[in-house]
Amino acid sequence: METNNNILEIKDLSVSYTVANVVTHVLEKVNLTVPKGKSVGLVGESGCGKTTTMRAILGVLPSNANIESGEILFNGTDVLKMPYNQLQEFRQTGAGLIFQDPSSALNPVISIKKQFLTSLKYAHKDKNYSSAQLYDKAIEALNAVSLADPKRIMNSFPFQLSGGMRQRVCIAMTLAGEKELLLADEPGTALDVTIQDQILRLIKNLVETLDLSVIMVTHSLGVIRQVTTEVNVMYAGSIVEGGDTHQVFEHPSHPYTIALMDCLPKLTGTGISEGIPGRIPDYDHPPAGCRFYPRCTYALDRCKSEVPGKTIVEDDHWVACFAAEEGKVCPK
Ligand SMILES: Nc1ncnc2c1ncn2[C@@H]1O[C@H](COP(=O)(O)OP(=O)(O)OP(=O)(O)O)[C@@H](O)[C@H]1O
Ligand SMILES: [Mg+2]
Repeated sequence: METNNNILEIKDLSVSYTVANVVTHVLEKVNLTVPKGKSVGLVGESGCGKTTTMRAILGVLPSNANIESGEILFNGTDVLKMPYNQLQEFRQTGAGLIFQDPSSALNPVISIKKQFLTSLKYAHKDKNYSSAQLYDKAIEALNAVSLADPKRIMNSFPFQLSGGMRQRVCIAMTLAGEKELLLADEPGTALDVTIQDQILRLIKNLVETLDLSVIMVTHSLGVIRQVTTEVNVMYAGSIVEGGDTHQVFEHPSHPYTIALMDCLPKLTGTGISEGIPGRIPDYDHPPAGCRFYPRCTYALDRCKSEVPGKTIVEDDHWVACFAAEEGKVCPK
């Protein structure tokens, strides 16, 4: 098998949802790559398909979702084709998901100790660790996420911990399970900003010290800039621009990315701007060409009917936009 340095490669992934016999085509040929030991961002406004992408990776989409096409290669093996046992194994040992709302990831009526040890038992089932060894691993991981008094935490129920503590417990479980890929879906946004900042710094630190690979999902470009080395900008179910975080911030080239950056509150400027006019298109009847076309100030005639391919902007930076390809997009 071809070996490369990517822990995850999503290729042309399309996902729809069926509600009352109506099929909505949400993800449209998503391509996303995570190199080993890197933190990769996925950014876009609410409803663009970020959580759908994360759930697809772990094979935990809701029952009304349909994978129309595509591949999700984890260390070269397609998650979508894994038999059930292998998929369970992948979830227990390969990748872990941290949810936006940390309370939904832990069972409120089972002690942290029981949940932690059960998850570790699965993650290390071929290693024959004793219960005492697993307990020590859990304590070590709780220490690594800077939780004071890990023994008290082990004996607590989730409802006895704060939101920030619960989220740290979830990260510790991923670490102690020695999972290779962390999917962080807006970690900390349900918490106050100081705690959110601490969680983000913790993840960044773990990537640097433990070689963990991360997909950081957020609607905040500030978070992307702080935590990731590569970024993917998603609009209405497609990645429209991607590459090295620094290059994308220096030369944003898709009109949507430019508009998103324009919406960042400016510390020195005129305050919070108005947001991007219009809204994400109706997924039941998406525009035939570029999905951003109806909101785009640079739109050309062909954007209405043709879907743009990738144009290289610079060595590690691409964009899917006809106007950018023709040199007609100029960031302010
Ligand atoms: N179970 C479902 N059934 C039908 N449609 C769904 C379902 N889950 C998500 N969707 C639709 O898919 C689209 C993408 O949703 P998703 O949750 O992936 O967006 P998101 O980018 O994570 O948004 P947010 O930033 O608000 O979390 C939305 O239009 C949403 O309504
Ligand atoms: Mg989401």
